[in-house]
Amino acid sequence: MQLTINAPLDMHLHLREAQMLQLVAPLSAAHFAGAVVMPNLQSPVDSQQKLLAYRRAIVEAAADDSFTPYMTLFFRPYTKAELEAAREHIIGIKLYPAGITTQSEAGVADFESIGETVALMEELQIPLLVHGESNGFVMEREREFLAIYRWLAESFPRLAIIMEHITTADTLDILDEFPNVAATVTLHHLMLTLDDVVGGLMQPHLFCKPIAKTPHDLQALRAAVFSGHPRILFGSDSAPHPTHAKECCGCAAGVFSAPVALPKLVELFAAQDKLDVLPDFVTNNAQRFYGITPNPKKVHIHDEAWTVPLSYGSVRPFLAGEQIQWQVTAIEK
Ligand code: DOR
Ligand code: ZN
Repeated sequence: MQLTINAPLDMHLHLREAQMLQLVAPLSAAHFAGAVVMPNLQSPVDSQQKLLAYRRAIVEAAADDSFTPYMTLFFRPYTKAELEAAREHIIGIKLYPAGITTQSEAGVADFESIGETVALMEELQIPLLVHGESNGFVMEREREFLAIYRWLAESFPRLAIIMEHITTADTLDILDEFPNVAATVTLHHLMLTLDDVVGGLMQPHLFCKPIAKTPHDLQALRAAVFSGHPRILFGSDSAPHPTHAKECCGCAAGVFSAPVALPKLVELFAAQDKLDVLPDFVTNNAQRFYGITPNPKKVHIHDEAWTVPLSYGSVRPFLAGEQIQWQVTAIEK
């Protein structure tokens, strides 16, 4: 059986810099027509100059003109002039609470201080992408952040807000409360609970932020995604770290899923007999919510099994060594 997906998009991706960028950018470009690129580099992407330099490095590393990097700036207080200048180069601005995850130390420490910049973003119609976790107990962080999502959605009703990599049943309620809010969901959060991470021998390659939650949360996320909810978008949150930074004392957070995401999603949706809603999840919903028209790349996927390599360069991928029943066999640009 062959399936064709028009312009699949990864709406949340970490491409890193330097050697890691060279390694991972072609892997995303091989399956996706575009991706929303996260700005949490060692020195955050928080100026137009850094943004344009980073974009150039990505385009060069991907070496594929059918792959569009949709750039984001790292949230900080911006002036109207800065936002007006940046607007045409970005898809949105990514807000991290300070210190909540990898390279987010420069994030927001005081949410009472963000209103002015967020109001300008609403005025200029620049979407706000949010890593929604408090600094409370690790299993409650997303739930504790919901009050901030509600405050943002109510106070800025014309602002497009994207709740990134959501993991709890409660977070889904916000989608029904506010039409200006969308959410991304990762592949790994459609497959894992906390048990998979630490229930047996500890699995550093499944450790990420937000951490995988309960069976109830997993079922709720899966039900929402397979129902074809129009404001749930696929975002892999593929976050490569070299093996030495994962298999050590002080494991970095992140699951590197870029090379397996699309074929594994096909497998999950096929198993639920829901292949009809997969194009909404991997491209149509994102196009509608963000108002983007990606380049017309077609990705052909066959039901031919392959075994996921144990490593791509220095990085161990999600599902390493496992079989996936579908594979990308051709691309039409
Ligand atoms: O697990 C994660 N890794 N979550 C994030 O939010 C950031 C990411 C990274 O950059 O490594
Ligand atoms: Zn991320």
